Amino acid sequence: MKNKIHPVNIIQKKKEKIKIKMLTAYDFTLAVLLDKQNIDIVLIGDSLGNLFNGYQNTIPVTFEEMLYHTKAVSKACERALVVSDMPFLSYQISAEQAKENAGLLIKEGGAQAVKMEVSGSNTGYIKDVIDIGVPVMGHLGFTPQSIYQLGGYRVQGKTDKECLEIFNTARQLENIGCFAIVLEMVPRALAKKITSQLDIPVIGIGAGKDCDGQVLVTHDLTGMNNDAVPRFVKQYSDVNSVIKEAIDKYIKDVDNMVFPDQEHSY
Ligand code: KIV
Repeated sequence: MKNKIHPVNIIQKKKEKIKIKMLTAYDFTLAVLLDKQNIDIVLIGDSLGNLFNGYQNTIPVTFEEMLYHTKAVSKACERALVVSDMPFLSYQISAEQAKENAGLLIKEGGAQAVKMEVSGSNTGYIKDVIDIGVPVMGHLGFTPQSIYQLGGYRVQGKTDKECLEIFNTARQLENIGCFAIVLEMVPRALAKKITSQLDIPVIGIGAGKDCDGQVLVTHDLTGMNNDAVPRFVKQYSDVNSVIKEAIDKYIKDVDNMVFPDQEHSY
């Protein structure tokens, strides 16, 4: 695997002003596609809670679910950096819990890094994980695991006070050794400021075009998911309709005994 992307290569991209492209995958088949399309980072996001498991949000996602999907995606990615999300309550209880679970996503899951959300300005558990040699991508701004505390899907950093808090937390994440951060749903001006002041890459989602890279949920951008898609998502295709059309044709062919025909029979 000589062309494998590592966290250090992601930092280098910022230095070279090359935009970082990151997308989500929860299964082997989609991960192979993303890897072959030269996506830099494949994220096993805990958004799989909504899109794979049908939960209302990411809170119910378990560590075992993340490990299972991480194993599948890691096997597919020959080139892309594989980052796995630490789900809610898999790292907040103790340093031991955070280190063990992050370590397992690397050791058993095959990921090369983990992503951890920051609630408030508490970054202690992230430092614990970095200290055992696991690369961490911090996630701040709108953090879906704190949805009840944040009062729903809301843009963060709307007041000067909030902006300062987010800025200081981003700086703190850089200081403790995160190799990158994801900045979600914040005003473009704040994202631009953080991107220009930090040496580590800032990967935006709903944070404007000035970030060092962009991340989206693949189900959203392909139109596989058409339900409650956030405003910041651009849908590049309508995969949902393509699948519906194929299923309709299949139903008709089976009803009319057109399928299986001679070509598809033994
Ligand atoms: O869970 C996820 O898919 C994410 C991305 C939206 C950044 O955290």
